[in-house]
Amino acid sequence: MNDLLKVESATTLSELEAIRIELLGKKGHFATQFARMKDLDKADRPAFAAELNEAKAAAERAIAAKKEALQKAQIAARIEAEQMDVSLLSTVGTSGAIHPVNRAMEEIVEYFLGMNYELKTGPLIEDEFHNFEALNLPAHHPAREMQDTFYMNDHKLLRTHTSPVQIRTMMTQKPPLRMIAPGAVFRRDYDLTHTPMFHQIEGLVVDAADRVSFANLKHILSDFLKAFFGDFPVRFRPSFFPFTEPSAEVDIGCIFCEGKGCRVCKQTGWLEVLGCGMVDPNVFKAVGYENVSGYAFGLGIERLATLKYRIGDLRAMYEGDLDLLEQFA
Ligand code: PHE
Repeated sequence: MNDLLKVESATTLSELEAIRIELLGKKGHFATQFARMKDLDKADRPAFAAELNEAKAAAERAIAAKKEALQKAQIAARIEAEQMDVSLLSTVGTSGAIHPVNRAMEEIVEYFLGMNYELKTGPLIEDEFHNFEALNLPAHHPAREMQDTFYMNDHKLLRTHTSPVQIRTMMTQKPPLRMIAPGAVFRRDYDLTHTPMFHQIEGLVVDAADRVSFANLKHILSDFLKAFFGDFPVRFRPSFFPFTEPSAEVDIGCIFCEGKGCRVCKQTGWLEVLGCGMVDPNVFKAVGYENVSGYAFGLGIERLATLKYRIGDLRAMYEGDLDLLEQFA
């Protein structure tokens, strides 16, 4: 076969390599031809050599070109074979679930956004002014004790509630305002109903003194609890917070025994779900607000989520318990 046709006939790189050795190798076609030169007449040798050199160069060019073509074809074939169809449906049967805490948080935030509250956030690492002082919690207050608060160096601390976001918002914004602030808070606590990190949603409404009353507070929280838990009785019980006056804790009729008395409600028929009150004048003084009135509330998201989804042990929420989480898929 003609050398060039032979090169052309190669269909793989290894075939081509075999042909290259056959033609250009040490014992190959051209080597044998050149060896024959010594048998020729001296006069004939130059023409023979020139012809042979030309044929050899042509064979080399053809092999190089063929090699490139075969390599390209090989890459193209590989790309073709490795192609994947990203539009194909997944065959993996499991999907993620929204964590019950996020789920409850989203639902609560959604309710208050619908009521025209603005979403606010604040830092998790706070200072004593925003977390305590401005909230009318003076230096000797028991809530500042080491057993409750995680202190860090230079008087920094992990916020123990979302109430400092009230202070940060009022110090940078003029009244009137309506805000909620969801986020993580930290306390040195760990048992069936407490984890050192948990989540709260803070609410604050401030307006002209004659425009915000305890009745407004009572109405919005009763309506929220109905939207979140369904139709259970709600009661406001007098309580105390340094940053609200008057203050109340809010209970709903036990959703487990419907008020008859059970283990979860400790036989009282009621479940405590949040704290609230009218903003204490000392708080307004600390942020420089005058002639205003306001109400504030703070609710624990884990508390609401464990009740609504009937989760017995709060700690299970943070142990990556798949049996628990998969129920929310
Ligand atoms: N900050 C309070 C707590 O963590 C909750 C609260 C907020 C109470 C706002 C009244 C008003 O317990």
